[in-house]
Amino acid sequence: MPETSAIYPGSFDPITNGHVDIINRGLNVFERVIVAVLENPKKRPLFTTKERVRMIQDIFASKKEVEVRAFDGLLVDFARAQGTRVVIRGLRAISDFEYEFQMALMNRSLAPDIETFFMMPSVNYSFLSSNLVREVAGLGGSVEGLVPSSVARKLRNKVRGPHKVQIP
Ligand code: PNS
Repeated sequence: MPETSAIYPGSFDPITNGHVDIINRGLNVFERVIVAVLENPKKRPLFTTKERVRMIQDIFASKKEVEVRAFDGLLVDFARAQGTRVVIRGLRAISDFEYEFQMALMNRSLAPDIETFFMMPSVNYSFLSSNLVREVAGLGGSVEGLVPSSVARKLRNKVRGPHKVQIP
């Protein structure tokens, strides 16, 4: 049976324009993209799970074919529970490859029926990561053009607010 949906998992702390680009590319191939936000307090994310989910929901508010959910536990279990057998991951550069290769093969050994699809973001975003965005924002640099404007605003508030951005 051909797949009509795919799951796009990640930490999204915060979502960047590179992630947005991959979600839009995913929609060119799949009817439905489920963005799965990892709930992992051990990673001490800058944004809470609720904030990360909400930010992505707001960005894709006009696209009902994008669903955003938080998850914990094994990704393959969550994918199955969502009724999909395709995992999308973005590949920016060769440096991503080793980690992604390990994850894809681990997921395959856990769930042979689930396939990982790699998609390349626009070259404009090939240097972009949530880590760098957090670092630049934490040091007072501009992140305009790197993240959606709503996310840039939230980052500025974190820098100024009582919960200051922690530089990774
Ligand atoms: O954006 P990230 O941090 O690179 O995303 C990593 C993510 C969420 C895809 C990965 O950590 C994950 O799938 N975690 C869930 C736990 C799991 O299934 N682990 C085994 C597969 S390697």
